Amino acid sequence: MGCWETWIRTTIGAAMTAILGISAFYHDSAAALVVDGRIVAAVQEERFTRKKHDYQFPIHAIEYCLAEGGLEGGQLDYVGFYDKPLLKFERLLETYLAYVPAGFRSFLTAMPLWLHQKLHLPREMNKGLGQQYKRRYVFTEHHESHAASAFFPSPFDEAAILTLDGVGEWATASFGCGRGRRIALSHELHFPHSLGLLYSAFTYFCGFRVNSGEYKLMGLAPYGEPRYAETILEKLLDLKDDGSFRMDMSYFNYCQGLRMTSRKFARLFGGPPRKPESPLTQREMDLAASIQKVTEEIVLRMVRYVYERTGMKNLCLAGGVALNCVGNGRILREGPFENLWIQPAAGDAGGALGAALFIWHQLLGNPRRPARPDAQRGSLLGPGFSDEQVRRFLDGVGAKYRHFRDEDELCRHVADLIASEKVIGWMQGRTEFGPRALGSRSILGDARSRRMQSVMNRKIKFRESFRPFAPVVLHDRTSEFFEMPPGRDSPYMLLVAPVARQKRLAQDGDPPQGLDKLKVIRSQVPAITHVDYSARLQTVDPLRHGRFHKLLKAFEAKTGCPVMINTSFNIRGEPIVCLPEHAYRCFMATNMDVLVMEGFVLLKQDQPQAEEHRIDEYLARFELD
Ligand SMILES: [Fe+2]
Repeated sequence: MGCWETWIRTTIGAAMTAILGISAFYHDSAAALVVDGRIVAAVQEERFTRKKHDYQFPIHAIEYCLAEGGLEGGQLDYVGFYDKPLLKFERLLETYLAYVPAGFRSFLTAMPLWLHQKLHLPREMNKGLGQQYKRRYVFTEHHESHAASAFFPSPFDEAAILTLDGVGEWATASFGCGRGRRIALSHELHFPHSLGLLYSAFTYFCGFRVNSGEYKLMGLAPYGEPRYAETILEKLLDLKDDGSFRMDMSYFNYCQGLRMTSRKFARLFGGPPRKPESPLTQREMDLAASIQKVTEEIVLRMVRYVYERTGMKNLCLAGGVALNCVGNGRILREGPFENLWIQPAAGDAGGALGAALFIWHQLLGNPRRPARPDAQRGSLLGPGFSDEQVRRFLDGVGAKYRHFRDEDELCRHVADLIASEKVIGWMQGRTEFGPRALGSRSILGDARSRRMQSVMNRKIKFRESFRPFAPVVLHDRTSEFFEMPPGRDSPYMLLVAPVARQKRLAQDGDPPQGLDKLKVIRSQVPAITHVDYSARLQTVDPLRHGRFHKLLKAFEAKTGCPVMINTSFNIRGEPIVCLPEHAYRCFMATNMDVLVMEGFVLLKQDQPQAEEHRIDEYLARFELD
């Protein structure tokens, strides 16, 4: 846990202000601890409960944040919640009344959670804090929380802020400005007109899970043609020049029903929704390409308008739609903003952090000095484990390992294994806050390998074969491999950039269609080159990424290649691993070859009980996402 703990220990006892932020009861519950304006800890509840996108009150996440700060619930000065539940309830009631009696079933489904927990938040939070916290609770508005999470940790003294998601209380998008220690949102788009819900409607219609499968739809888009884009713009939306829009709600069902789209939507797109897990057809690929194109058009119009209205050169983004890294790549490349910073936990988990930072700067008026490269600390804000803790665990389960005292030697050894096409589970340092694995809880492989994309999807992750893998690249060699504007980085894997032309391979004959596109070897790093040559990249630098950067340097020294595959350390439906036992279980149950936890290296072939860990039993623990 390094020097961060030292700082807390020496500060404790002196006058300080400790603020806990909480998000809960929708999806991706999380807690964040901010002490004297510094982000001490932040983590999603799912990492502990092993339920993906867990929405329950984040008891474990809170417990961890307090322990990381050396605090008890009674020592907190403020507790913030990331939205205003009464306003949300008002939206629910008004929507129900507007559609009565059509929405009765969905209303009934939502009621128990509201009546038992959401409308009694202070009571629930008292319970979650062990009845120790006696001060006030602060409820920030949903989009204010997103905006605060985007601006306050950013490196900018002033910036325009744009937030885009499914829905908060009423707002589904907002923009405004951040200056120094204050943010002010001046414009909002209101429910039911929502870019997040529009994208989710297509996610649902294409047979993926809402609030979870959106990134699969984005990954599917390059297999299709945007042949429905005009239809979407003509029939479903009235899109204005400034990016605001109204939706024709007769095509949607989310206001009154339990489904996202209506029969009229199905008629427009040639039949009923795709059943989950059934074969993907050209229609889904084309729908994915179409809604992606429309989404980018809307976001780019909004961004241009925000630029016109604010006249600022920096832009901060948050909200679930800001996880659409294809769109983000276009914002970066096509401007007009000079600089872009996106909150890595852009979804609702990040609201916990936003609420805490909002209290510190905006409510308490504490000054803010922007940090370089930013104040997010690489987003490595969750639990970490010492060598001693890892050793105790490994000895407890009878694992066979080799321990490396010397970090350089460890990195050279692991780089050799990757270069020989071994698949590595890599658990180092503190867990990532946000949905992406950034080299702390990652599965790594050789990006040069022609078989790695298929091996990883089928034998390690047990997920859909069409899904691409993301690269990590040494930050100072990015432009050699990817078309990124010079001097730009992507430390949080939130941008997509095309693979550089000089790294692509010439293609003969007619281009294949649909899923056959997968079979083509397209570049010198085929495992991370998507079918349209795009790559969702993470740039790795020594400041943010420590040992992970050393590993990539060792791989470069051995192979000349500064690029590896980095995918999250989990299987399909499983939250990213967090604790040593999670990593060990996932390693033992899958076909992963090697597990590296801190200084310990485990080879699968050496493990005594390898055959006792069965993949089907392991897979059955997690609901398909
Ligand atoms: Fe949100």
